Amino acid sequence: MTFPFWIAGKPVTAGATAVVHHPFDGSSAGSHFVPSAADVEAAVQAAADVAAEFATLPAHVRAGALDHVSRSLGERSEEIAALITAESGKPLKWARGEVGRAVSTFRWAAEEARRFSGELQRLDTDAGGTGRLALVRRVPRGPVLGITPFNFPLNLVAHKVAPAIAAGAPIVLKPAPATPLTALLLGEILAATDLPAGSWSILPVDNETSSQLVEDPRLPVVSFTGSVPVGWAIRDRVPRKHVALELGGNAAVLVCPDWPDLDFAAQRIATFAMYQAGQSCISVQRVYVHDSVYDALTEKVLSQVRALGVGDPRADGVDVGPLINLDAASRVAAWVSEAVSSGATLLTGGGQSGATVEPTVLADVPEDASVMAEEVFGPVVSLVRVSSVAEGVERINASRFGLQAGVFTRDLPTAFEVSAALQVGGVIVGDVPSFRADQMPYGGVKDSGVGREGPAAAMADFTEERVTVLTGLTL
Ligand code: SIN
Repeated sequence: MTFPFWIAGKPVTAGATAVVHHPFDGSSAGSHFVPSAADVEAAVQAAADVAAEFATLPAHVRAGALDHVSRSLGERSEEIAALITAESGKPLKWARGEVGRAVSTFRWAAEEARRFSGELQRLDTDAGGTGRLALVRRVPRGPVLGITPFNFPLNLVAHKVAPAIAAGAPIVLKPAPATPLTALLLGEILAATDLPAGSWSILPVDNETSSQLVEDPRLPVVSFTGSVPVGWAIRDRVPRKHVALELGGNAAVLVCPDWPDLDFAAQRIATFAMYQAGQSCISVQRVYVHDSVYDALTEKVLSQVRALGVGDPRADGVDVGPLINLDAASRVAAWVSEAVSSGATLLTGGGQSGATVEPTVLADVPEDASVMAEEVFGPVVSLVRVSSVAEGVERINASRFGLQAGVFTRDLPTAFEVSAALQVGGVIVGDVPSFRADQMPYGGVKDSGVGREGPAAAMADFTEERVTVLTGLTL
């Protein structure tokens, strides 16, 4: 099937086509029509034209549309999960999980749309404000350009589209070139709603066109999820726009000496270092373990990692599939070799077969090796022995990234102390950094980005305060 793209809520089935390939074996995952320059112009102008109408559309219409999308995703979950797997190479079990999360993201956005109300501020605190009251509401800044990555072809699209609709901001979505099909299928579901024409468009365009969209003044908000250099370059190019960036990280775990259940910690670390072949901004990359439990934990992590099923992501029982393409796998394998040449110990894994990299565990890795200092985005984890909780915190913070961190402790004062000290956007106590509930504010500090995702947080990003002062009141 050749998927249409979407301009102002209408399908377009004309012009050139492009094929999307399955990362595991290169077979066709499907194809889609490719927008021309005139199509892109039509989508952007439609967004600009509908902005005022969309901003005042009643909440029940926006919430109703979001609820419809949430329900439809649930009803079509198996079909959508299979498509996610086909275009991204993500094992089916993780693709199913992603659909479930997108159901929740749209449902939360519907709920946020209903309660997005603003607040009252009394102004009679000084004589000049006697009888006056401010109504402080948030109004859309204007149409949003959403740019999404390949690693969550549905749910990271949901995190742009759902809050934009909830806030009444038109959105032009540019999905990742490697994985546009799921976003285009989402278009079919959105098209069955009553949202006004122009309020959403989905354009599977190349990165050069995306660059033009970034500079288009009719799209005053850019919400980007993707690589660190591309994200910051966008912000530098359009300093007058409102730019939200959800970028990468080298997420860390700290295992404290009091943690009572090493089996659980090892299972979570192994699973979430390797899930989606490590292609998540919050997959476990660095594990700092207190000396008193290091040896025992290492054995348990290794046995969990060695038990993971590696192979065709469409097959039952496969936990780790390919990376998005051969280049990505070769880069990751080269980084592992570089770490070993500079003194790291390879505890398991290290091999590459096509786009698949074996789940790999390293120890004794120099802090400046790429597998520690950069974002690996592959199934590789490094274990580090530390002599105190304070040392673990210091080493986690010695990174240019700061997205999320996990801390295995049951000690409440330690949990608070560590969570205050860590330079990250989120701390997960008692679990890995890879935990994300979709309603949470999610985003990073330092090179990991600016702004927060999550329906309510993104709605705040897509809107600005509008004050209406009422006068002559008896308060
Ligand atoms: C990401 O890779 O940034 C998103 C992670 C997630 O949503 O779980």
